[in-house]
Amino acid sequence: MTSFAVIIIAVFIGSGFTMNKPTIYDDEQTGLGKKVVIRFSHVVAENTPKGLAASRFAELVRLKTQGMVEVRIYSNAVLFNDNNEFQALQDGKVEMIAPSISNLSTFFPQLLIFDLPYAFDNEQMIKKGMDGKLGQLLFQSISNGNVKGLALWDNGFKQMTANQSLINPDDFKGLSFRVMASPVLHSQFQALGANAKTDSFNELYRQLENGTYDGEENTLSNIYSKRFYQVQKDLTIFNHGYLGYFVLMNRDTWNGLNKNNQQAIIEAMNETTEWVRQYAKRINQEALEDLMENKMIRIHFQTEGEKKLWKEAFRPVHSQFTNQIGDQVIKEWQKLKK
Ligand code: LMR
Repeated sequence: MTSFAVIIIAVFIGSGFTMNKPTIYDDEQTGLGKKVVIRFSHVVAENTPKGLAASRFAELVRLKTQGMVEVRIYSNAVLFNDNNEFQALQDGKVEMIAPSISNLSTFFPQLLIFDLPYAFDNEQMIKKGMDGKLGQLLFQSISNGNVKGLALWDNGFKQMTANQSLINPDDFKGLSFRVMASPVLHSQFQALGANAKTDSFNELYRQLENGTYDGEENTLSNIYSKRFYQVQKDLTIFNHGYLGYFVLMNRDTWNGLNKNNQQAIIEAMNETTEWVRQYAKRINQEALEDLMENKMIRIHFQTEGEKKLWKEAFRPVHSQFTNQIGDQVIKEWQKLKK
């Protein structure tokens, strides 16, 4: 065998990469009982709300189970990307993922509520909704098949970037934007006369660099950690849509855990969710401060007057999706809006 082949095999063994096995038992730990390894795959960088929350969760699980459950994190889409991670979870090729709500909305249309432009005014409104009836309805909607919903982790509100200023609705005409896989996001850009296409997040830097897309929308922490400011000239602080993540586990994996380990995971998850609720905003704010201080990209802060125009421009998008989202979810959202 060539030394190259030996290295490849060693890397695969070392990373615990085994297909179709919901839970890995590490037999080296024989004297200590069975050790469980949970592979947690996500698509963003470590220095983002999701990346930091995943590391924190892994550490809390290690402490609470005295190392008997190891959450092994695969960031930056090294295992699966946003197009195939949900299928991989259902097939047991990975045990945990935390996809964006937008990407899950193609499977669960109730979730489209989060992508309606300016549907949520601030983080408090999201928190109130997710802690109440709206959250219950949405968790029920995703708890289907071989998937267990564990939590909703915050990132924050999305902003827009391009190589030209994005101030008036007309500025979007004819431009092309990369979006996550949500039909609402496609309509949002179509309403402005722009084109939108879904592609995976880990391809985006290169695609912005080579001009496949003129622009994109994302949170500041994602724009900053993926260095989109190097390949985009303009950033507008829009806050028009919320980016959060449903943290999901393969149901067979969950059912295969003993009661103590399940309890430890629930506690670790609750503590992490509380932490990310408090710190996600700060992480995005710090990204903004660095972008501003070091003049890494031209920034426009949308005014209240401009926001009115935008809300008007996006009105047709709301009416287009109310049927798909369904009465129950729309009613709960309307109560929050009041
Ligand atoms: C995206 O644009 O795909 C990101 O928002 C992905 C993520 O998980 O934050």
